[in-house]
Amino acid sequence: MKVRSAEFEISAVRPSQWPGGGLPEFAFVGRSNVGKSSLLNALLQRKSLARVSATPGKTQQMNFYRINDAFRFVDLPGYGYAAVSKSARGQFARFIETYLTAERPLLRVMHLIDIRHEPTALDVQMHRWLLQLELPVCIVATKRDKISRGAIQKHTARIRKALSTPWPMVAVSAVHRDGLEDLWKVLEDDLER
Ligand code: GTP
Ligand code: MG
Repeated sequence: MKVRSAEFEISAVRPSQWPGGGLPEFAFVGRSNVGKSSLLNALLQRKSLARVSATPGKTQQMNFYRINDAFRFVDLPGYGYAAVSKSARGQFARFIETYLTAERPLLRVMHLIDIRHEPTALDVQMHRWLLQLELPVCIVATKRDKISRGAIQKHTARIRKALSTPWPMVAVSAVHRDGLEDLWKVLEDDLER
């Protein structure tokens, strides 16, 4: 994909702020700190369009990005961050739920899972829910630079098994810029359909 333009549009805290215009969207979900914002920047080849932080729970709103004036990326708040208050956590869940069940032109949900670890209970729960909603999903195994090349297959197989999912999986590293072409291929196929 040639990224000619990538603009941050809005940090939305309520649905009335979601941008209109009906452009197709790709949503990025995953637990806090899994690498959603980093992946967005890597895909778009922008250093800091999306805020990245070593402190989890940074992205607390829904951030909309407009690419090539043709489609959008939606960075959803990360789940599972223990240090935020319970009410804030409930609010995250509601945000995500409201968005995923709204009648948006949502082409696919990118469900990010840290390649190093067994998916958490919340990962499994989120994935089951995505399956129930019958939304198209792509599992994105993040931070693949953190394990050896030889271990990638074993780790992705473990993730697939834990999620018991039919959806495709791509292993990426935002830091080494690995796997990004494979992921773009999935998005491009969706856009062409
Ligand atoms: P929240 O906004 O809190 O939900 O987090 P996030 O999912 O957007 O994660 P973010 O992109 O902010 O990254 C979290 C941390 O992981 C940062 O310290 C990043 O530098 C690091 N990180 C992200 N992607 C990679 C990667 O591919 N490889 C490595 N080694 N580190 C990564
Ligand atoms: Mg983020």
